[in-house]
Amino acid sequence: MITPGTPFAPFNDVLIDPERLKARIAELGAEITRDYQGGNPLLIGVLKGSVFFMADLARAIDLPLEMDFMAVSSYGNATESSGVVRMLKDLDAPIAGRDVIIVEDIIDSGRTLAYLVELLQQRGPASIEICALLTKPERAEVEIGSRYVGFEIPNRFVVGYGLDYAERYRNLEYICCMDETNLPPIEPARTRAQVEEGHPA
Ligand code: IMP
Ligand code: MG
Repeated sequence: MITPGTPFAPFNDVLIDPERLKARIAELGAEITRDYQGGNPLLIGVLKGSVFFMADLARAIDLPLEMDFMAVSSYGNATESSGVVRMLKDLDAPIAGRDVIIVEDIIDSGRTLAYLVELLQQRGPASIEICALLTKPERAEVEIGSRYVGFEIPNRFVVGYGLDYAERYRNLEYICCMDETNLPPIEPARTRAQVEEGHPA
């Protein structure tokens, strides 16, 4: 396990540890299992931030569900919302007549999800609900009726368990806060050959 404070992740401010994540996701899974009893919900993961949550949540739901993914971009730079939402990858299959659950890592302003819900509504699903691991209620700009929420968090920039800062730190097993006044520099990716040659980071 990648622990807090390693050279790779030089911050210690753990907000949600793996045990709490696991326990809460088990509860969400049980709730969805009850709510969709006898049905076949379609989980739609919003790439890339939801991948770990999606994987764990799906395995906590005791139903014959299906999974699909879509990708949108909502961020102009690393930490500030641009309000512009662009579709990068659409779903593989139609959702008409399906009970859809959108699985999202975090609701910040709510703009991404507002856009997604509107887009998916036009395709005639039987129902659409949202399952978000995290929400920042202080930041909400758009009203989003999120039926399933893992944790409400303060207005801090967080990384880990799928959430990134400039594409890094998704692979932390916990969620931690980053100091926005002191963000680490993101070096370009190095190849193994460059590392062996002692190429500077
Ligand atoms: P919204 O459209 O403002 O709700 O932004 C939602 C998206 O912004 C999420 O799916 C994340 O990809 C990203 N985001 C918002 N807050 C954070 C954060 O604290 N850490 C990492 N990504 C974030
Ligand atoms: Mg995201």
